[in-house]
Amino acid sequence: MPIVEATEENIAKAAELIRSGNLVAFATETVYGLGANALDAQACEKIFHAKKRPHYDPLIVHIHNLEQLDSIVEDFPEKAQLAAQEFWPGPLTMVLTKKPSIPDLITSNLSTVAVRIPAHPVARALLIKSNLPIAAPSANPFGYLSPTKAIHVEQQLGESVPMILNGGDCEWGVESTIIDFTRSDAILLRHGGIPLEEIEKICGPIKLGKSALEKPLAPGQLPSHYSPRTPLTILKNDDSPDFSLKFGFLGHSSSDFDCKCEYIERVSSSNNLKEAAHNLFSALHKLDKLNLEMIYVYEFSEQGLGAAIMDRLRKAAAK
Ligand code: TXA
Ligand code: MG
Repeated sequence: MPIVEATEENIAKAAELIRSGNLVAFATETVYGLGANALDAQACEKIFHAKKRPHYDPLIVHIHNLEQLDSIVEDFPEKAQLAAQEFWPGPLTMVLTKKPSIPDLITSNLSTVAVRIPAHPVARALLIKSNLPIAAPSANPFGYLSPTKAIHVEQQLGESVPMILNGGDCEWGVESTIIDFTRSDAILLRHGGIPLEEIEKICGPIKLGKSALEKPLAPGQLPSHYSPRTPLTILKNDDSPDFSLKFGFLGHSSSDFDCKCEYIERVSSSNNLKEAAHNLFSALHKLDKLNLEMIYVYEFSEQGLGAAIMDRLRKAAAK
């Protein structure tokens, strides 16, 4: 069983695994990450291999303080500094111009690197103990639902990960927001844990990524991602499910209409978006195990965290 509790002893073992070029999965406040030493291309190659991740999809580098940032990026523009003051540690990833210390494998040969200071105590303890920047994508097979519990990592990646550091259920449940700060206009590359509106209050207007991005195709840009194996359909308010199918429902709250559905996972008790994001992937994992023909969900409002929730659902629904 690779899942271990994040005791001081196990954190020390995990740090040793990272330092010796091996993988460790660990809790962050967004989703579980699959980590390796970001300065070691061979170690990071194991991440791509374990996830079956294509090399054109670059990794996020996790650090624990701004001193470490200095050793991996050339430049820390003013808007990025403002964002760091407000949102780090936390679910914000910044794309910045990289230093040569970061191997090209990690950044898919881009001149930029995505960086984040996570807030979860387990992630922080591992970063501090290993004293290395740690490259870590979400700890799921490429394209599949993200893991928000240690057991999701074990079920999906199992023996390919020597250790999974348990840190409980991830608080946010959706990945970090990604902003590119390398151009004069800041650009949103992926909706995530910190709503765009919050970041704009601190950094001013932020452009929406898609058309501005030539490369890479961020998962936020790939039409299909974060997908259960069961087909998923997003219903508009006045749509109804196809009752001829064996279907399950991802419900918004406990006051959801009675769809006479045997299989329903509600993501919130009171239509609270933070609670819905927290439970989103976990509910999809459960529904995906039931051999259903379809998962239905009614659309969420796209305010605040609703933007990240709808982004994940659209990608889960894409073929
Ligand atoms: O919350 C999170 O961000 C989680 C936790 C583990 O920190 N990590 C995560 O990593 O979601 P991942 O690999 O699943 O998604 C990161 C995405 C990459 O797929 C890539 O498209 C984008 O970030 N990315 C990484 N480096 C980039 C770069 N230099 N320029 C543009 N996008 C980049
Ligand atoms: Mg991912």
